[in-house]
Amino acid sequence: MAATILITGTTGLIGFRILLAALAAGHRVRYTVRSEEKAQKVSSNPAVQKLAPGDRLSPVIIPDFTADGAFDSALQGVTHVIHAGSPVPVPTYDPVTEVFEPTVKISSGLLASALKAPSLQRVIITSSIVANLGLIPPPTTVSASTRVPLPSPIPTAFSSVFEAYVQSKIVEMHNSDEFVKTQNPHFTVSHVVPGYTFGWNELMLDPVMMQTQNSSNNFLMMGITGGQLPMPIHGGYGHIDDVADLHLRVAFLDPSAGGPRDFGLATKLDYTTLFDYVEKAFPKAVAEGIFKRGVIPTLPVEYDSSDAVKLLGRPIKSFENAVVDVASQYLELLGKEKA
Ligand SMILES: NC(=O)c1ccc[n+]([C@@H]2O[C@H](COP(=O)([O-])OP(=O)(O)OC[C@H]3O[C@@H](n4cnc5c(N)ncnc54)[C@H](OP(=O)(O)O)[C@@H]3O)[C@@H](O)[C@H]2O)c1
Repeated sequence: MAATILITGTTGLIGFRILLAALAAGHRVRYTVRSEEKAQKVSSNPAVQKLAPGDRLSPVIIPDFTADGAFDSALQGVTHVIHAGSPVPVPTYDPVTEVFEPTVKISSGLLASALKAPSLQRVIITSSIVANLGLIPPPTTVSASTRVPLPSPIPTAFSSVFEAYVQSKIVEMHNSDEFVKTQNPHFTVSHVVPGYTFGWNELMLDPVMMQTQNSSNNFLMMGITGGQLPMPIHGGYGHIDDVADLHLRVAFLDPSAGGPRDFGLATKLDYTTLFDYVEKAFPKAVAEGIFKRGVIPTLPVEYDSSDAVKLLGRPIKSFENAVVDVASQYLELLGKEKA
């Protein structure tokens, strides 16, 4: 049977790139969005149009992903699910209702619906390295198979959006492990666990969006346009091209081959190098003041990405590569020369 992949989160950085990669690889793609307007945003995007997907691409509108049985009908006939539709810790979000609850509920609801979809072979859930690191990164090396103890009791209030995000990813991972153990599903479940993900984001159609609606790339944009981030962010990174490719490779792994179930990609980096790459690649734009050195403090992490790198089977893309891609997209949207 030809693969039909259901992808969530396609109005976001990671989900959208997975959608492009899946279409480029020739798969049929069904994508879930919260409104007709968001479906339009995806299907009318120039990068999607360029791939001329025709009837290989179809939207499913689910206004509330947390509703009971929300994914029941969307999953019928689907062979693979890639679930990247979950919140990132935006400072203005409510920690409970806009971060913790949707992260945990959408994933468990999706898995419950998946039990009713006989065609399903594999579910991939996008997690984050914070699920393996916990609230304070340990000095020891962790990997995608590391489990932070489940908080007890499960928290219902949080001191910050970031704390809610970390706890939600920890609880989600435990819940999914438990689901596999207790439900013995007819499909396999894996997590893809990226560090901060950076790179060209085809959803960004103007320079303002590049700085405000660009998920983790917002931080990178701060670092190259003179911004100052008040808190450090994890120094573990994945290029968007590699992160998207990894999702698809994990989706099509032969489950009978054994090996790890979860795959994390977070190469060690120090954000102080960020602007050096921009100065090297775009000296004219730096001289014109389009790019200015910002401050992004680094929270050091030790993360073992070797399983993911092995699965990708090729050199992974450097942080410099991601910085140049983002800066290059910004110049392109400003209508400025790149030389
Ligand atoms: N970007 C990173 O550096 C990074 C690193 C590690 C892990 N991740 C994980 O990767 C996933 C995607 O991140 P991203 O960077 O692509 O984020 P993003 O650009 O902010 O996109 C988030 C996506 O999730 C959807 N979403 C958020 N809250 C939702 C809710 N309550 N109900 C339904 N859909 C919801 C959004 O849909 P709407 O448009 O409808 O809001 C959007 O499609 C998340 O699980 C995130 O934790 C990201």
